[in-house]
Amino acid sequence: MASEKVLAYLDKHRQNHVEQLCDFLRIPSISSQSDHNEDTKRAAAFVADELKALDLQVEVIDMGGHPLVYAQTEIRPERKTLLFYGHYDVQPVDPLELWDNPPFDPIIKDGIIYARGSSDDKGQVYTHIKALEAYVREGVELPVNVKFIIEGEEEAGGESIYKFTEENPAKLACDAVVVSDTTLYNETTPGICYSLKGLAYMEITVKGPAMDLHSGSYGGTVQNPGNALAKIISHLMDDEGRCKVPGFYDDVLELDQEERDGFAELGYTDEILCDETGAPAAFGEAGFTTLERMWARPTCDVNGITCGYGGEGAKTVLPAIGKAKVSMRLVPNQAPEKIAEAFAAYVKEIAPAGVEVTVTNHHNAAPVLVHRKSDMMQAGMAALEQGFGAKPVFIREGGSIPIVGTFQDCLKSPVLLLGYGLNTDNIHSPNEKFHLDNFWRGIRTSAILMVEAAK
Ligand code: BES
Ligand code: MN
Ligand code: MN
Repeated sequence: MASEKVLAYLDKHRQNHVEQLCDFLRIPSISSQSDHNEDTKRAAAFVADELKALDLQVEVIDMGGHPLVYAQTEIRPERKTLLFYGHYDVQPVDPLELWDNPPFDPIIKDGIIYARGSSDDKGQVYTHIKALEAYVREGVELPVNVKFIIEGEEEAGGESIYKFTEENPAKLACDAVVVSDTTLYNETTPGICYSLKGLAYMEITVKGPAMDLHSGSYGGTVQNPGNALAKIISHLMDDEGRCKVPGFYDDVLELDQEERDGFAELGYTDEILCDETGAPAAFGEAGFTTLERMWARPTCDVNGITCGYGGEGAKTVLPAIGKAKVSMRLVPNQAPEKIAEAFAAYVKEIAPAGVEVTVTNHHNAAPVLVHRKSDMMQAGMAALEQGFGAKPVFIREGGSIPIVGTFQDCLKSPVLLLGYGLNTDNIHSPNEKFHLDNFWRGIRTSAILMVEAAK
């Protein structure tokens, strides 16, 4: 347990912490939209100022993109070191009309805060800052050395954090990297995440005639890029939910029996799934349970299609071009580059005659697997149990956090994925939210983790 003083401070400052989080959430730090570049800078400054006020040594680092915020307490060699990673950037907000409340004007309803970035990831990053604040303000000696590396390009596929990590492994050296950018298992059960999916994000472009044609005048004389694109997409997956890209499953690390049993014990049902998503039925690769597919099977999904006329009424047109964005979520030990290449080759192979097809690879992320039985994992479990008042379960995530694989490779430290969000927090969607109970429990967990990690 953390010192009584620290925990009492946290109890006393619950409302202040929420108000301060609101200030952070008011900054529209959308990293992928350049008209928000000043806002991302302001969000970085917000984080930097908070950490400076806690007497950390802080640097705002420009690696060519949005700034990184690096900070450290005094480093005493006899103490262990925790490195906290997170991101201050957020996703775009459109479609704006589906928000019940403006995305950057946080509102609290029934113990839930609604705003873009509340769960992903400002609210979660903030838990660690406020935990540290309790030690500093109460004058309680920190059980560990603390470092922060908070980035502003996670949602935009930026390179800054990779460059910085590869060039400065000594600066980031630590006994564990702590990442709060994932979810609890459910509202009452914390989870310790031991695997993230990777990603290969592709775009297919199908070009036909030089301009849109009258579909009567020229229909039947040339290949239609829309038809061709549909044909390609129809060959990506079979009827059983398996991806048809050759070699797609070759390197997939299968679940072991202990994992499958663990998943089964969690009791996740298709009814819960339909309830959470509003989908009429569950669907996916035959031979695996829903949770197995969600957490441990690779996927291939169309993310968007643009082609021809999509406006009101009818317009008789044979489109000049069709495009599809496709994401493949990968699992250990699939290599994103290898999968991206196989995908491109396969699409070329199945492309109908009469159109020009190009395939580009937007960005990749490596899948992550961490040891379940390390001492740090034990510390994380103990902290979650005390912070949330419930025993944590082992979970995986279907989402990706691209830098985590690089941390493992460059820093050789264990990574603790302690997530305080919920799958139903609407991250990346309208009405993103974060439960204040989870915010406060997250802060406690972080404060307790500092003690547990020191053991
Ligand atoms: N925090 C998410 C990752 C996440 C999503 C964790 C869902 C748990 C559940 C992160 O900010 C994110 O959105 N990652 C992107 C990565 C992509 C842009 C390379 C993702 O998973 O789509
Ligand atoms: Mn995130
Ligand atoms: Mn995100």
